[in-house]
Amino acid sequence: MTRSAARPHNVPIKTDTEIEAMRAAGQAAASVLDMIGPHVEPGVTTEALDRLCHQYIVDELGATPAPLNYRGFPKSICTSVNQQVCHGIPGSRVLKKGDILNIDVTVIKDGFHGDTSRMFFAGEPSRVARRVSEVAYGALVRGIEACRPGARTGDIGHAVQSYAESHRCSVVREYCGHGIGRGFHEEPQILHYGRAGTGIELEPGMTFTIEPMINAGRRHVKVLGDRWTVVTKDHSLSAQWEHTILITTTGHEILTLPPDRGL
Ligand code: MF3
Ligand code: CO
Ligand code: CO
Repeated sequence: MTRSAARPHNVPIKTDTEIEAMRAAGQAAASVLDMIGPHVEPGVTTEALDRLCHQYIVDELGATPAPLNYRGFPKSICTSVNQQVCHGIPGSRVLKKGDILNIDVTVIKDGFHGDTSRMFFAGEPSRVARRVSEVAYGALVRGIEACRPGARTGDIGHAVQSYAESHRCSVVREYCGHGIGRGFHEEPQILHYGRAGTGIELEPGMTFTIEPMINAGRRHVKVLGDRWTVVTKDHSLSAQWEHTILITTTGHEILTLPPDRGL
């Protein structure tokens, strides 16, 4: 098919029924993070966190953990500790006092995906750990605030990047946000860096994630021998927060924001 000037992309526009299902999936994913928060403490293994989330997703939510067996990923959530950037595999690692951890949850509910992640602290974090987590959160919020019909994907990237870099942190470029729906990773790609006014135009009914990975040091990363875990090359701390967003006629809706909670 040729691309038309009127619609120069292949981004699915969700119907009202699909949006209702995306809301339910988003809320389900957020509820997993609410559930697991109190369990993140020194002494717990990342594998124990994975088991708790898996059971909750399957038994309480009647949903499916999307990461399990996704391209060979062996577990139901991602747990990325300290200098791990993303895609950490839960295992026998025991969390120590001061560790910081991203837990990334994606559920499939009635055929639709909800994808969200937050930072958690095992005990009191160091000042730099708290700061990189706060900068990553602020960068996500700036990205979300750029979401409205008529804005472009590059506006999101620009908002994220300028916020993070003005706070002396760096933005990982190898991984990006993504369209989401019946598919885990759909079009468009949402880069967390770039130039305002570039990229495709946002339209009501688009659903995608914003999930900036922010490093306290340099932006460069490498993948470990397990072929999943991404770490900073300079061993600096890294943080990430993720929400699933819907573009509405007036702006946006954060599908993974828990009920009666602000950003
Ligand atoms: N949830 C991640 C994302 O935000 C993807 C994890 S893929 C996995 O896109 F296979 F590592 F689970
Ligand atoms: Co995602
Ligand atoms: Co995710």
